Amino acid sequence: MAGERRYEGKAKVMLTTESADRLWMRFKDDATALDGKKRASITGKGALNTRITALLLGLVSAGGVPTHLRAQVDETTLEVDALEMMGIEVVLRNVLAGSLARRLGRPEGQVLPFPVVEFYLKDDALGDPMLAEDHVVALGLASVAEIAEIRRLTHRVNEILEDALVAHGITLVDFKLEFGRRNGQIVLGDEISPDTCRLWDTKTGEKMDKDRFRRDLGGLEEAYQEVLARLERS
Ligand code: ADP
Ligand code: TMP
Ligand code: ASP
Repeated sequence: MAGERRYEGKAKVMLTTESADRLWMRFKDDATALDGKKRASITGKGALNTRITALLLGLVSAGGVPTHLRAQVDETTLEVDALEMMGIEVVLRNVLAGSLARRLGRPEGQVLPFPVVEFYLKDDALGDPMLAEDHVVALGLASVAEIAEIRRLTHRVNEILEDALVAHGITLVDFKLEFGRRNGQIVLGDEISPDTCRLWDTKTGEKMDKDRFRRDLGGLEEAYQEVLARLERS
């Protein structure tokens, strides 16, 4: 049956469609942090992340990275290919910030000499622990060849996003991706939005991402709106 909830996560609901190989990905207004322990509802966030994800997955796809995006269905829904998700979160960092700055006891803002890629196990109950690449292989989450492909695609996504954002005065500090498999091919799934990226205004350093919620800075909706407005200005 179409329209049934296949999975409800913290930020989105995945719904079945008429076709077994397609899903509807519906963005909610909910914001969470600390693996779901901190929660709020922010009116308009779902629609903003839907637009921004459609736009950024479109760019990434045009740049040669296979993605699950098929179409935008309505204000808060994207139609996507159903993927067999790999259960890992892939983070790429251009600038030292967030959990890396915290763990190393360093201030945020140092530009890293090259983009750093990290893997995390997607498991809220365990607090998404970081994995070495050997763990990813040993746990059967991905093969050595798949890790190489994921790294290649993640670096490509970084180039495409940086190009698009730098033109609009936005620094891409870091971001998180989730990959899946479709007919044996590695495909980029999930979202690319200010919920899953750190975006700093290049001139002022102002945060334009979910850190506004994580750090109780306020003005999240306005910041996301500004990101979308800049991206739509070509
Ligand atoms: P969570 O709370 O699980 O982190 P979300 O609220 O973002 O996540 O819900 C989206 C869920 O759907 C995630 O678990 C994500 O891995 C999964 N997902 C994303 N894209 C696809 C896809 N194309 N096919 C199947 N599952 C997907
Ligand atoms: P971190 O510095 O907290 O590890 O986050 C790195 C990037 O990954 C940042 O852009 C936010 C994003 N992210 C998610 O999208 N989901 C998560 O669960 C976490 C922890 C981070
Ligand atoms: N894993 C966090 C959560 O509780 C997300 C984040 O901080 O981005 O939703």
